[in-house]
Amino acid sequence: MAHRGFSGKYPENTMIAFRKAYEVGADGIELDAQLTKDGTIVIFHDDTLERLTSDKGQLTEWTLDELKSLSINSKDQEGLAEQKIPTLKEYFEWMQDKNLLTNIELKTVNGNDIGLEKKVLKMIEEYGLEKQIIISSFHKENMIRVKKFNATIQTGLLTSKCTKQIIQKAKEIGMDYIHPNALSLNEELIEYADYYDLKINTWTINEKLDLEKAINVGINAIITDFPDRLKEIQDKGYVEM
Ligand code: G3P
Ligand code: CA
Repeated sequence: MAHRGFSGKYPENTMIAFRKAYEVGADGIELDAQLTKDGTIVIFHDDTLERLTSDKGQLTEWTLDELKSLSINSKDQEGLAEQKIPTLKEYFEWMQDKNLLTNIELKTVNGNDIGLEKKVLKMIEEYGLEKQIIISSFHKENMIRVKKFNATIQTGLLTSKCTKQIIQKAKEIGMDYIHPNALSLNEELIEYADYYDLKINTWTINEKLDLEKAINVGINAIITDFPDRLKEIQDKGYVEM
């Protein structure tokens, strides 16, 4: 799955990064969802604007129109068309006819109920994309609400430090997946997750050797900034160990 789209080469969480990820053969796309001041779901990673745009301030204090007036920084790529912050609706319009998984990460500051879960679920249902979506969050509160509002949608609990306790917690709150930082994952934890029947989608693996290694350890998905590298390794074929 392409992390924030093909973010190793194109500006993260933009339509061009999503399109390019698809073009190089990604099976899925990971993206970050937040609410604007006027309640629109936009795709953007940070809670503030300065790293990725020419302006600054909290994203949640800007309306959609105001955000659309900004350009996303282009990673100094010449000839790249100007990119704007996409809405989730724009993304769904593009992906609805594609055989593409999407991992929507809910970005809320501390897991508070700001209505993001309900809005995201409503849009998924409107587009009939239930089978192609995995919703994730670092906050168990977000994930508990997602499961409460839609028991059948696929869900994963994100964790920067995977432990047996977190795996148990993910199971307890009804998750289908655990989404651990790859640096905190080991064989014992992979077996432990398997015992609890939780599939693993790990992030963010970018180096070729690490990708090759990860492909052989029995995890469900690898989230990478370089879907081209992963695809190349897969296409070459690999031996299940
Ligand atoms: O979903 C995996 C990964 O995206 C979580 O961390 O900070 O890149 O959103 P972050
Ligand atoms: Ca993310």
